[in-house]
Amino acid sequence: DSLDLGKCFEVINNLVTEAGQLIACNNETRQEFELKSGDIDLVTQTDKDVEKLLMNGITKHFPDHKFIGEEESSGEAGANKLTDCPTWIIDPVDGTMNFVHAFPHSCISVGLKVNKVTEIGIVYNPILEQRFTARRGQGAFYNGKRIQVSGQKDIKKALVTSEFGTTRDVEKMKVVNENFAKMAKEVHALRVLGSAALNMAMVALGAADANYEFGIHAWDVCAADLIVREAGGVVIDPAGGEFDIMSRRVLAAATPELAMAISKVLTQYNPMPRDD
Ligand code: IPD
Repeated sequence: DSLDLGKCFEVINNLVTEAGQLIACNNETRQEFELKSGDIDLVTQTDKDVEKLLMNGITKHFPDHKFIGEEESSGEAGANKLTDCPTWIIDPVDGTMNFVHAFPHSCISVGLKVNKVTEIGIVYNPILEQRFTARRGQGAFYNGKRIQVSGQKDIKKALVTSEFGTTRDVEKMKVVNENFAKMAKEVHALRVLGSAALNMAMVALGAADANYEFGIHAWDVCAADLIVREAGGVVIDPAGGEFDIMSRRVLAAATPELAMAISKVLTQYNPMPRDD
């Protein structure tokens, strides 16, 4: 029987509102955290609680749906293999470092893929009440109002975001720093705000013109990829090819012209292992 995507949207939109309260009320105090892959890759009890609330809530309505989640992921090769089944790709707190420091720029990021195509995307910052939503073919919205990318084509006039990432790996840091240096010479402004999903949401809003990052995960970008495209933007691989959600590489931009201009400037990096 066919999946009611309208119902899926309603269910997840309500669940992120509920889960958002766990983030918003805990933001007033710094959080205890545990380390994941290294000393700047963090997880808090709130990450786990939000993920559990979302997964239990979804399973109640859609018992046969699958999950790929940041905290859910076992880290085993193949654990995140995407199938044609309806699959919810979840980052319970994107921007965990910000959350730990009470810097009010973190969000829940949830995408739904059916037959490997993203149908629904929600990026919700409950601290500042910023909700970005999209359904495939139906446009992108910010707190219920339709949004559009800036239309910027000129790299010299572009405000671009990126991240240092969550590893201090020497090779990776070399490329990150090289790209910051190169981009700073080309663009109007370069910003590092600490959440991959919100970086992309800002492109959809027209507040930023582009975002790139090597090292992101599927759960950081699944929802925001749809939101950017539904706002009229483009999401590609930083080398210029097709975006691959499991490749840990992303370049989002207001226009294809800007995306290609940034792609040409970037030193490329291929984070391993892939997410799948
Ligand atoms: C991370 C943040 C960070 C970005 C990383 C992400 P997390 O997500 O978005 O800004 O640089 O690539 O993995 O760990 O806070 O959910």
